[in-house]
Amino acid sequence: RGGNEVRIVEVGPRDGLQNEKKTVPVATKIELVDRLSATGLKTIEAGSFVSPKWVPQMANSSEILSHLLDYPPKSSEPLTYQWLLPNTQGLDNFLSTYSSHPSNFTKTDKPPALNTSSQDPNSMPSTSPSSTSSSLLSPHKHEISIFTAATETFTQKNTNCSIAESLERFKSIFATAKELSLPIRAYISVALGCPYEGPNVSPHAVADLAVSLLEMGADEISVADTTGQGTAPRTAELLKTLAAAGVDVADLALHFHDTWGMALVNMIVGLEHGVRTFDAAVAGLGGCPFSPGATGNVASEDVVYLCESLGLKTGVDLAALAGVGEWISEELGRENESRAGKATMAK
Ligand code: HMG
Ligand code: MG
Repeated sequence: RGGNEVRIVEVGPRDGLQNEKKTVPVATKIELVDRLSATGLKTIEAGSFVSPKWVPQMANSSEILSHLLDYPPKSSEPLTYQWLLPNTQGLDNFLSTYSSHPSNFTKTDKPPALNTSSQDPNSMPSTSPSSTSSSLLSPHKHEISIFTAATETFTQKNTNCSIAESLERFKSIFATAKELSLPIRAYISVALGCPYEGPNVSPHAVADLAVSLLEMGADEISVADTTGQGTAPRTAELLKTLAAAGVDVADLALHFHDTWGMALVNMIVGLEHGVRTFDAAVAGLGGCPFSPGATGNVASEDVVYLCESLGLKTGVDLAALAGVGEWISEELGRENESRAGKATMAK
């Protein structure tokens, strides 16, 4: 069950950087995405279109998107870049940059109808070189991610709405994305513990949400242990509950923060249940500003090393990834949180 290929969704440029206190220069963010793009990773969450008042660190994501559209990283295989957004305003802001690059819509596509009333003037399309042939030839794809959570308190703290209201907000996002053939990943936060409501989040609440999001048209559900409170037995129980609710394991990703050091253990439980997509951040960067005390994501280097040790293929060059982890840790003045990354660099 599950096959021997593991897909890593590298969330370092988004989840990894969103909680950094010091402003990370946009040039560093772009360099991070470019460097990650050369490691064999196939999916990278490169930024978010959220309110800059809520998460100032992500304010310049449209510049990163513009860069990737103007100068698509050279890689032997096409990459997918994902962009996190909470509402139609986020989608409009994403599209105002994305659709200003002609390569993204074929002649038969309708240009996206932008809701100009809610445009953020700070993220209007850059004057992109529409005649740049590299842009026209870009092999890469761009997708969007949306997010809600399994508890009411976390949903309020993170997105200032109830769970039901978050689903309501998504309706128009799904409608536009489907019209434009943009795939959507949907996160369910605090699936294994909530910073406000405690560790025992109902697996049935997670499963009900997953079913609703898939029915609405989500292409993938990323079930997130935001606080890192998940344990192996509760991860197994959650995966069984999801399966019993009819959620196909092929539609699932697992997103572990490693606050309690259980991320790799819980990942093995996920592998045993057939999950083959895992989110991770280079150098173990990361954290959610609305999840106090939670630390970074499981380190991508550790995930690659674990997979290799089990004979599973990720397609990622561990040495190259470890080099990126070391570089970004130095840039941020942080300890490199990846054990496998540090061991690789010490060899
Ligand atoms: P709100 O304050 O209720 O929004 O925030 P509003 O609709 O009332 O608008 C207020 C202001 O925000 C207005 O500006 C809007 O234009 C602006 P003003 O008139 O005051 O100048 N605004 C926006 N600006 C830019 N982009 C937008 C946008 N929307 C409104 N998209 C809102 C509601 C959802 C916007 C806010 O709560 C928000 O941005 N939340 C995002 C929080 C966030 O990014 N959290 C971290 C990511 S999730 C995560 O890390 C978890 C994950 O990793 C999985 C896991 O580990 O659990 C995915
Ligand atoms: Mg996260």
